[in-house]
Amino acid sequence: MERERLITPVSYRDGAVELLDQTRLPQETVVLKIRDYRELARAIREMRVRGAPAIGLAAAYGVVLGLQDLEDKAQLDRRFREVLEELKRTRPTAVNLSWALERMARVYRRERRRGLARLKEALLAEAEEIHREDIEANRRIGRFGAELLPEGVTVLTHCNAGALATGGYGTALGVVRSAWEMGRLRKVLVSETRPLLQGARLTAWELEQEGIPYELITDGMAGWLMARGEVGAVLVGADRIARNGDIANKIGTYTLAVLAHHHQIPFYVAAPTSTLDPACLTGKEIPLEERSPEEVTQIQGLRLAPAGARARNPAFDVTPHELISAIITERGVLRPPFAEAIADVLP
Ligand code: MRU
Repeated sequence: MERERLITPVSYRDGAVELLDQTRLPQETVVLKIRDYRELARAIREMRVRGAPAIGLAAAYGVVLGLQDLEDKAQLDRRFREVLEELKRTRPTAVNLSWALERMARVYRRERRRGLARLKEALLAEAEEIHREDIEANRRIGRFGAELLPEGVTVLTHCNAGALATGGYGTALGVVRSAWEMGRLRKVLVSETRPLLQGARLTAWELEQEGIPYELITDGMAGWLMARGEVGAVLVGADRIARNGDIANKIGTYTLAVLAHHHQIPFYVAAPTSTLDPACLTGKEIPLEERSPEEVTQIQGLRLAPAGARARNPAFDVTPHELISAIITERGVLRPPFAEAIADVLP
């Protein structure tokens, strides 16, 4: 697989899943070598790997880990069920997780009677195929998205929808990368993304690596910069897209969409079709993760709020489709009315 020059958050080598630990970036570049699927599930929960497509990919490789030491065929079905359930419960919002696990389950059902060695090979091949397809999808999203942007644009992005959040290259940051290569991009405004600072820590790190000009802003600065005419487009990723075009993404995305609408700035969502959830008719049905209040009262272990302070921590919000200008997928740019455009690209 040709991905040597890409930032790769997840890979599989010699019986171990290798994760670039995203809780340690940008201070340290630490690669975790994980051989146990339960440890991999913990790494997903702790957000050592995060971002919807990367979570799906890590879980697919997690299935490979879950079966690799198994020698007794009589245990196979029970083990497979346990592995799938453990990985599925890690994070609820990114549909790419259950999508990737369903692909692995399909291969399992097809190959389980052909012997353990063959089954294990087929599962690894499927995980690698998901990885390859994701990078390819991101490159296509990048090209489609870059063509939408006007010459010399300043783009505002939220959270990290970059190489770190995918198999490589990125969705929203894939568009940024392509636009930069095509000479269309002036700079990127990166919102820091409280509470876990994926913008300040991860998006800024990726843009540094690529030499793409950016400025970091706190989340509360976006509206004022839009009012001053300093934002040409907003570009974000998604964790799940409902059939009507409502999207779930990192908390704060909804605020940016309302602001963009008020200031008549295009609001673009970049995501592969693996992020579409045909089972959700609208955003109301999307399960939204609520994480520990400590992530709000502290920053990287340093307590900011008084002891005993209560806090809320919804990790995602839903942006209604009315606020979205276009959804950029690897199968083309979807425009309103989204229900029809989405139905056309669903398998
Ligand atoms: O909680 P996170 O960091 O996993 O949230 C990530 C996001 O919200 C991303 O925007 C989304 O997963 C798209 S990644 C290509």
